[in-house]
Amino acid sequence: MVVTAAPPRGPNNPPIIGNLYAFRSNPLQFLIKAAREYGDLVYFRLAVQHMYLVNHPDYVREILVNNQGNFLKSRALQRSKVLLGEGLLTSEGQHHLRQRRLVQPAFHRERLAGYASAMSGQAVKACERWQAGSSMDVSVEMSRLTLSVVAKTLFSADVESEASEIGEAMTAALQMFQLLVMPFSEYLIKLPLPSVRRFEKARALLNSTIYGLIRERRNSGQDTGDLLSMLLLAQDEEQDGGKKHGGGMTDTQVRDEALTLFLAGHETTANALSWTWYLLSQHPEIERRLHQEIDTVLQGRAPELADVPQLRYTEMVFSEALRLYPPAWGIGRMVKAPFELGGVEIPAKAICILSPYLIQRDARWFPEPEKFDPERWTPEARESRPKFAYFPFGGGARVCIGERFAWMEGVIVMAAIAQKWRLRLDPDQHIEPLPLITLRVKNGLRMTAEPRAANISASIRTKLPTKT
Ligand code: HEM
Repeated sequence: MVVTAAPPRGPNNPPIIGNLYAFRSNPLQFLIKAAREYGDLVYFRLAVQHMYLVNHPDYVREILVNNQGNFLKSRALQRSKVLLGEGLLTSEGQHHLRQRRLVQPAFHRERLAGYASAMSGQAVKACERWQAGSSMDVSVEMSRLTLSVVAKTLFSADVESEASEIGEAMTAALQMFQLLVMPFSEYLIKLPLPSVRRFEKARALLNSTIYGLIRERRNSGQDTGDLLSMLLLAQDEEQDGGKKHGGGMTDTQVRDEALTLFLAGHETTANALSWTWYLLSQHPEIERRLHQEIDTVLQGRAPELADVPQLRYTEMVFSEALRLYPPAWGIGRMVKAPFELGGVEIPAKAICILSPYLIQRDARWFPEPEKFDPERWTPEARESRPKFAYFPFGGGARVCIGERFAWMEGVIVMAAIAQKWRLRLDPDQHIEPLPLITLRVKNGLRMTAEPRAANISASIRTKLPTKT
């Protein structure tokens, strides 16, 4: 039942465009100001679209868990079907449930073990590529690394040789995402714009690569232990009783899921790692403690799956980086039927914005919210907070399917790199977030790599008595 309730609070909405201009020019700043001024539920309009900013963990639970059936992925994400088809990220209802059942086994614990060595191997390769004292854009490096991890774990492919070509296509596809999430983009993509042509080219390249791989794998009939094999082998016992042919996925479904995992699994993790290196470079004490843990656990060898539970401080650092800079900084949901939230009636077709970036920086749940403090992630500290005060991976039926994969990748990559290198921020950079689909580092992140072994031996040498 809908309660006739208090009118929602929020900023003035100028005629016709509402707050579209302010929101589009700096969405984070707009939302932060709105929450500060109007509290836990804020109403505003973007042109004709009614928007509700939801800024309390209990409300997040209401939307993502308790009433999740009353919401659709926001229209913005639905528009990206042009790229992702009916993959997990974009599909809804029964189709989504079936696909989720089919894809889930690819993320079971036994399968993840196989992915850990790919993660470690690719991180070690990245370490070997870097030169002492040379400056690089760490966000580009992390992107290259997570791309190679997802290619290896998804397709057993080594994209290093073609990394730039596929990387280019992915970047163009991500730029297209930007276009797709704009209001009225369904019309924009019919125009002969250069960005639309670039997207078409990128999509054609991605399609030909993925369909090629599917064909090869179907012909060979091999289970290579990667995600693609799992997708091809998947049978939906529940819905189709595992009927031969009936219970699996068509090539198009496999393509949609593979491309979804490829995109969802690459950019998010790259962002999270980039922000982690930035934060570590600003907090030498925390970096030192991280090095200590890594050196003690690994004793100089490359990390593997069995090390992950021992690398607890590493995981705490990664958790804290995901708190301050959650790659999925805003999660959108469109309301199906009117409902009541915190005494306010939310109409059908309104969009609710749930922002991990805002809630995870709220002093009610995280005192001194701007402070980078991995100690917030001891088991006791976690217990003391409401569950949805921290939700970098979303929640409920649509929680990130790659969450465990991402934690494992974060910890393994951090350990492999921090064991060998210390990354120092180059001077004269103003580092700030760029909230696109994911939370990128605006203008890149230039850092210089210093070899750690050399530092250690240098510090030992300084302590040795000098020969006379
Ligand atoms: C730090 C890394 C990552 C972050 C922060 C992240 C975050 C998220 C979030 C917040 C959602 C929910 C979106 C919503 O409810 O609208 C999501 C969904 C999803 N993520 Fe991730 N993700 C990460 C890594 C990955 C990886 C590594 C993969 C795959 C290998 C992946 C695949 C997916 C898929 C397929 C979905 C859609 C699930 C569904 O709707 O059923 N993600 N992710």
